[in-house]
Amino acid sequence: APSQDDILALIGSQLHLEGPLLPILHLIQQSYGHVPQIAVPLIADALNIGKAEVHGVLSFYHDFRDIPAGRHVVKICRAEACQAMGGTAVADHALQRLGVEWHGTTANGAVTVEPVYCLGLCACAPAAMVDGRVVGRVDTARMDDLLSGVGA
Ligand code: FES
Repeated sequence: APSQDDILALIGSQLHLEGPLLPILHLIQQSYGHVPQIAVPLIADALNIGKAEVHGVLSFYHDFRDIPAGRHVVKICRAEACQAMGGTAVADHALQRLGVEWHGTTANGAVTVEPVYCLGLCACAPAAMVDGRVVGRVDTARMDDLLSGVGA
């Protein structure tokens, strides 16, 4: 687990910036894969702001997580072209199969599901991304294959 000293060092490395809160949060998330709860009071103290303010920023930006992501991250496109090609049904199917909401992680820790807004693969809609690899023409059967492939 991230130690208080390590987190303080990360915070300190960004304090020279103007508006250091977001850079600090990004750096911590990059280092640990999430922003642990113990970082919040440390950040608040260092920046002389309230813990509520730090929490507010954390919950506003969905990219930040307070617990580690699953071993695999599946992103499903929710933008217009993909929706027009049945992407909503594919997304609903995936969430139902995994038993999670958007941003959720399966109970076995295998998969985290994130929405994404256009993967640049509109011509092959609906599109998804599995651990950084884009996949086009994802119907429900294809989605099942993808999810099985990552242990979900
Ligand atoms: Fe889904 Fe562009 S709208 S890839």
